[in-house]
Amino acid sequence: MPSETVSTLIQSITARLSAVGIEDAGIDARLLVRSAFGWSAAEQLGRLVDPPPDNLLAPLESLVARRVTREPLQYITGSTEFFRRQFSVSEAVLIPRPETEQLVVQCMAFVRERGIDNPRIADICTGSGAIAISLALEMPSAELHATDISPQALAVAQQNADVLAAELNMYQGNLLEPLTGEFDIIVSNPPYILSGAMPSLQAEVANEPSLALDGGTDGLDVIRPLFEGISTALRSTNSAAYIEIDPPIEDAVMKLALETFPHAGISLLTDLAGLTRCVSIEHA
Ligand SMILES: C[S@@+](CC[C@H](N)C(=O)[O-])C[C@H]1O[C@@H](n2cnc3c(N)ncnc32)[C@H](O)[C@@H]1O
Repeated sequence: MPSETVSTLIQSITARLSAVGIEDAGIDARLLVRSAFGWSAAEQLGRLVDPPPDNLLAPLESLVARRVTREPLQYITGSTEFFRRQFSVSEAVLIPRPETEQLVVQCMAFVRERGIDNPRIADICTGSGAIAISLALEMPSAELHATDISPQALAVAQQNADVLAAELNMYQGNLLEPLTGEFDIIVSNPPYILSGAMPSLQAEVANEPSLALDGGTDGLDVIRPLFEGISTALRSTNSAAYIEIDPPIEDAVMKLALETFPHAGISLLTDLAGLTRCVSIEHA
């Protein structure tokens, strides 16, 4: 990795990442350097014209070599930001997406608008715990329960809860099966990608667990039993469920929601890009 300064080193890494089709190669190059050298953004800026630390060039090269294979940056650095906080991530969990922050906002708005004092909330398919932990920290009076079928994912979620000092109950198991009692809010970002679309996912996404992504032939393999579970566990009044989805399945989800929740108000919510991102199921 020939280089004279941190700045030229970043330029050469950017060129290597661009060459394999990585769009934000410059940002990734900066973040990889910061991760390998243990620098903050300010520290990196202050050392751009310095020579890079010799003893850290080999560890940096191993991170860059991983990114060149299109391994997601967040798996390489081991963390990502969600709702203003840093969450640890590994290959056992989906990398939480900015679009999913909308589910947290929806839950908080519902609690505020309906004046629910101590909401009982379940996050199904919690993965890294991003949704449940954010809700627990944003609404300390809420009682949070989170489930995931993957023990490895739950271990990551528990680590995040410990580091962020969030109080919540976690259960390994299928959808709502480990839970008892009724809930004011049920939130979930389940696997919903059509199986047929899995082979054409972006190279980075293909590194994420298929258990977290693959929704079966029509995208509803997990959503169907999830809706069944919600229909019995959600309180019949003053309650809501918010489920993340995407445009290819919106019509089928709408139909299923209208059938499963005949007494609820059902609507589709869009994300900041204007794409359908969530089905909202609310009881008056
Ligand atoms: C799309 S990821 C969502 C992770 C996290 N909630 C987020 O938004 O970043 C879906 C998660 O569902 C879990 N999962 C898949 N099938 C499940 C099931 N039948 N019961 C519970 N969890 C399941 C996967 O292990 C994965 O962690």
